[in-house]
Parts: sequence; C-alpha cells; structure tokens
Amino acid sequence: MKRLWLVAGTGAIPVLLAFAVIGGRQAPGDTEAAGADPAEGSQPIQFPHDTHAGQFLIDCQYCHYSAERSVDAGIPPVETCIGCHREGAIDGRTNPEEVLKVRDYHARGEPIPWRRIYKVSDHVHFPHMRHVAAEIACQTCHGEVQEMGVLEHVAPEAGDLKMGWCISCHLERGASRDCTVCHY
Ligand code: HEC
Ligand code: HEC
Ligand code: HEC
Ligand code: HEC
Ligand code: HEC
Repeated sequence: MKRLWLVAGTGAIPVLLAFAVIGGRQAPGDTEAAGADPAEGSQPIQFPHDTHAGQFLIDCQYCHYSAERSVDAGIPPVETCIGCHREGAIDGRTNPEEVLKVRDYHARGEPIPWRRIYKVSDHVHFPHMRHVAAEIACQTCHGEVQEMGVLEHVAPEAGDLKMGWCISCHLERGASRDCTVCHY
C-alpha cells in the first residue's frame, strides 16, 4: 500500500487540483465508506451527549480519554459508565430503561456495540493527538456535541470527511500537505 501512495505522490499537484474541484461532491454509494449508514438504525443505547457534556458538564476527555495521547479518541468502556450508573446510583429521570441496558451489558461482561459514525478509509491516517496538541477544539470538527442528543450522523462541520476538508484546514493553518503524512 505504502509504495502505491509514494507513486501517487509524484503526480501530486494535478491530483490535488482535481480534489479541490470535486472535493465537495460525493458519489452515490460512497456514504458507507465515509460514515454511518442511516438505514442501520439507531445506537444500542440512547446515550445523550447533551445531558452528559452539556447539562452536567462532563469533560469530553473524561470519556474520550485517549484523544490527547493517541491516534484514536476512543469510546469509553462500559466500566466508565458504571462508575456513575451502578444500581442505587444515577438512574436517569427521563429514560431509566436505557440506564438499565447499561447495567445489563455490564452484568453480562459484554461491551456495548456502539455504531461508529466518524470513519475515514483505512488508507488514511488521522492522529487525534496532533490535532488536540494544536489546540483545535473537538467542536471544530464534530460540531456542538454538548448540545446534541443521540449522535446519528456526521456533523456538517466535518465536510463529509473528504480529503478537500482536511487539505483546506491544513492550508489555512500551515500544516503538512504531503501525501504520505495522511496516506499509508
Ligand atoms: C459520559 C461519557 C461521554 C462524554 C462526557 C462525551 N462522550 Fe462522546 N461518546 C460517548 C459514547 C458512549 C459514544 C458512543 C455512542 C455515540 O456515538 O453516541 C460517544 C461518541 C462520540 C462521537 C462519535 C464517535 C463515532 O464516530 O462513532 C463523537 C464525535 C463524540 N462522542 C464527541 C464528544 C465530544 C466533542 C464531547 C464533549 C463535548 C463528548 N463526546 C463527551 C461518551 C461520551
Ligand atoms: C460522571 C458521571 C456519569 C458518567 C461517567 C456517565 N453518566 Fe450517564 N448520566 C449521568 C447523569 C448525571 C445523568 C442524568 C440523570 C438524570 O437526569 O436523572 C445521566 C443519564 C444517562 C442516561 C439517561 C438519560 C435520561 O434522559 O434519563 C443514559 C442512557 C446514560 N446516562 C448512559 C450513560 C452511558 C452509556 C455512559 C457511559 C458511556 C454514561 N452514561 C456515563 C452521569 C454519568
Ligand atoms: C481536526 C478534526 C478533529 C478534531 C479536532 C477532533 N476530531 Fe474526533 N475525529 C475526527 C476524524 C476525521 C475522525 C475519524 C478518524 C478515523 O476514522 O480514523 C474522528 C473520530 C472520532 C471518534 C470516533 C472514535 C475514534 O477513536 O476515532 C471520537 C469518539 C472522536 N473523534 C472524538 C473527538 C473528541 C472528544 C475530540 C476533542 C478532544 C476530537 N474528536 C477532536 C476529526 C477530529
Ligand atoms: C480544522 C483544521 C484541521 C482539519 C480539519 C484537519 N487537520 Fe490535520 N492538522 C491540523 C493542524 C493545525 C496540524 C499540525 C499539528 C502540528 O503541527 O503538530 C495537523 C496535523 C496533521 C497530521 C500530522 C502531520 C505531520 O506533519 O506529521 C496528520 C497526519 C493530519 N493532520 C491528518 C489529517 C486528516 C487525514 C484530516 C482529515 C480527515 C485532517 N488532518 C483534518 C489541522 C487540521
Ligand atoms: C491532510 C490529509 C491528506 C493529505 C495531505 C492527502 N490526502 Fe488524499 N485523502 C485524504 C482523505 C481524508 C481522503 C478521503 C478518504 C475517505 O473517503 O474516507 C483522501 C482520499 C484520497 C484519494 C481517493 C481514494 C478514495 O478513497 O477514493 C486519493 C487518490 C488521494 N487521497 C490521493 C492523495 C494524494 C496524491 C495526495 C498528495 C497530493 C493526498 N491524497 C494528500 C486525506 C489526505
């Protein structure tokens, strides 16, 4: 794979221009690779970001604790939830049955099968820690998550997770546009 990208890199400028032009468009059927398929339905538990990160001001990185030190921001394990939601602790006033599901997964020792929403192709390298270190807020790329209920779709801020989106910010902020930093 790596060698293929190095070859592609020698044609850098015309390819880049082509992307600047077609960057905003998306071929039909491309949605699965870029993000979630809405037809797959909802999350296994109706987890509200607005309640946790908005109303109760829990820090994004309390749950997504690897964002500043690793490539992946990470989804918290059910143990993180149980810290607050074990029986006799926080029940949930509006959706107590969703909290019961959290306890069930924990009791069975099963991870919650969250449906992934933000995903770039396997040949693209996106390191969270570099962006967090550059002091780019989560919201710049993921939108005002603390005001969102259950996450289902990629936010409009993320430019469909296309190459043109990455490149325009890298241009603006003087970050690398070398093919090989993003492509394996
Ligand atoms: C109490 C824990 C918790 C807090 C606090 C939290 N999150 Fe999450 N986050 C989750 C869980 C669980 C998921 C997986 C379920 C889902 O997609 O909603 C998730 C999913 C996400 C996703 C989608 C991941 C994907 O591609 O599937 C993004 C983006 C995100 N969170 C950003 C944020 C931001 C930004 C904040 C702070 C404003 C935040 N989160 C605060 C627990 C949390
Ligand atoms: C730091 C404490 C804390 C952590 C960690 C936490 N929650 Fe919560 N959660 C709360 C609070 C506070 C509420 C609101 C309770 C209420 O309004 O009655 C809540 C409510 C909920 C609700 C019900 C919402 C409603 O409207 O009733 C669900 C579902 C939920 N949490 C799931 C999760 C999941 C899944 C995780 C782990 C990814 C998690 N929580 C982690 C504190 C936490
Ligand atoms: C510069 C844009 C950008 C910033 C800033 C950013 N993200 Fe992301 N995030 C992405 C992209 C792109 C993906 C998809 C990455 C992939 O597929 O490898 C993603 C994926 C995720 C996921 C899915 C799971 C994972 O580990 O990849 C979560 C959760 C998430 N981001 C949370 C956060 C949180 C929390 C912050 C702030 C601390 C944050 N992101 C900052 C662009 C960003
Ligand atoms: C909102 C602005 C912004 C967006 C959007 C963005 N980046 Fe970045 N990115 C930066 C900045 C700023 C840096 C430089 C950080 C530094 O100098 O350490 C960076 C650094 C990087 C690096 C490390 C470069 C190196 O020199 O080692 C990679 C890889 C990367 N970004 C990939 C991506 C990919 C892939 C996307 C799209 C999916 C993306 N970025 C979207 C701002 C952004
Ligand atoms: C800042 C990060 C970044 C840089 C630099 C970058 N790309 Fe990309 N590239 C991406 C992203 C993100 C995608 C879209 C992946 C997806 O659809 O999930 C992409 C997609 C592509 C595709 C389309 C493959 C597909 O999945 O359809 C080609 C070809 C490509 N890039 C070539 C290049 C070349 C050649 C260069 C150097 C001129 C380059 N890229 C530089 C991030 C980058």
